[in-house]
Amino acid sequence: MKTYLVTGGAGFIGANFVKYMLSKNGSGVSLVVLDKLTYAGNLKTLETELTDIKFIRGDICDAKLVSEVFTNYGIDFVVNFAAESHVDRSIENPQLFLQTNILGTQNLLDCAMKSWMIDQMYKKDVRFLQVSTDEVYGSLGDVGYFSEKTPLNPRSPYAASKSSADLFVQAYVETYQFPALITRCSNNYGPYHFPEKLIPLIIKNILEGKQLPVYGDGTNVRDWLYVEDHCKAIDVVLHNGRVGEVYNVGGHNERKNVEIVKITIDHIKNLMENNPEYHRVLKTELSNINYDLIKFVKDRKGHDKRYAVDPTKITTELSWYPETKFEDGIVKTIKWYLENQKWVEDVVSRDYQDYYNKMYLW
Ligand code: NAD
Ligand code: TYD
Repeated sequence: MKTYLVTGGAGFIGANFVKYMLSKNGSGVSLVVLDKLTYAGNLKTLETELTDIKFIRGDICDAKLVSEVFTNYGIDFVVNFAAESHVDRSIENPQLFLQTNILGTQNLLDCAMKSWMIDQMYKKDVRFLQVSTDEVYGSLGDVGYFSEKTPLNPRSPYAASKSSADLFVQAYVETYQFPALITRCSNNYGPYHFPEKLIPLIIKNILEGKQLPVYGDGTNVRDWLYVEDHCKAIDVVLHNGRVGEVYNVGGHNERKNVEIVKITIDHIKNLMENNPEYHRVLKTELSNINYDLIKFVKDRKGHDKRYAVDPTKITTELSWYPETKFEDGIVKTIKWYLENQKWVEDVVSRDYQDYYNKMYLW
């Protein structure tokens, strides 16, 4: 049986990946999750999986701990989700992003290399997948797409840290023939998304009858992919991708931010009108749920205008394509939040309150 080290597996995408791998492989897979449990990671998310995985609380920057994990569990595959992932937080505190995203990745690379190298040769069938982002490519104008050949042009501290990590991964491939691959995905949405990112934040505020902060004029464009489709892409790239290659992941689903907010309002209103049982999660009158909640606020510093991914390579080489249409995925996501308000309450901690108050004082 193969053993996977899933770093950052208590966060949004990492936890969805753990759930996907267990539902696909059952007891035929061994998963070791290493997570520092920052504000963004929560064991609540893995509550039902904890008996089927090995969970270790720890930092990917901790060389001693990470080497022990390799020695003790005989890791075959690493999927590195662990990161500081929020652009707005990176603008406030870039240092932490260098620490985790760059130094943490480099430490994982070193520990994997040492553990996998025997007599100057790598063990057979070992692989390291770096989960990266389309944000490393910078910002697009009204036309065009990011391909794997698009030059890196990061514009936020978050994107700069992810780009640096990618460059280290590529340097290890070239210098040490290290068996690594990189995926660069567009914006994800789905269950277990911490409510400081756009979609879960909007859902939370609508239910509370609070204003919906839209940065600038709301015309910035993101390319949205349902999280399970991203997990499937990672699985296929890890096992069937060509070592040393980068694979872009995205679903040609570009939306302006203000459009996302309006769609979310429309669906919540509709679901409430047709399902009276959902009214119990409303902390406002149903009549208050309308576009008047939208509030255009001060723009993000250096706000990237548009992201759009060209997924031709992963589609043609690995037959991956997005299976969940946005129209279905967004309803599934909203329903999940309506039915899992306890999760939202549990993950919304003191730290979140401090952060929220600082960012959204209008
Ligand atoms: P997230 O912030 O929800 O989760 C990150 C996880 O990493 C958390 O569980 C956190 O506790 C853990 N972590 C943070 N620092 C750590 C450290 N030093 N050691 C160990 N664990 C640590 O992020 P996410 O949205 O799930 O993103 C996961 C990965 O996917 C990131 O690398 C991100 O750059 C990338 N990505 C995200 C998106 C997206 O839309 N969310 C899109 C493309 C790529
Ligand atoms: P976000 O979810 O933070 O993802 P990213 O910055 O990685 O793309 O933001 C998605 C888009 O939504 C981005 O253009 C910024 C915008 N946004 C708002 O307009 N209001 C908000 O409160 C947040 C969190 C984001």
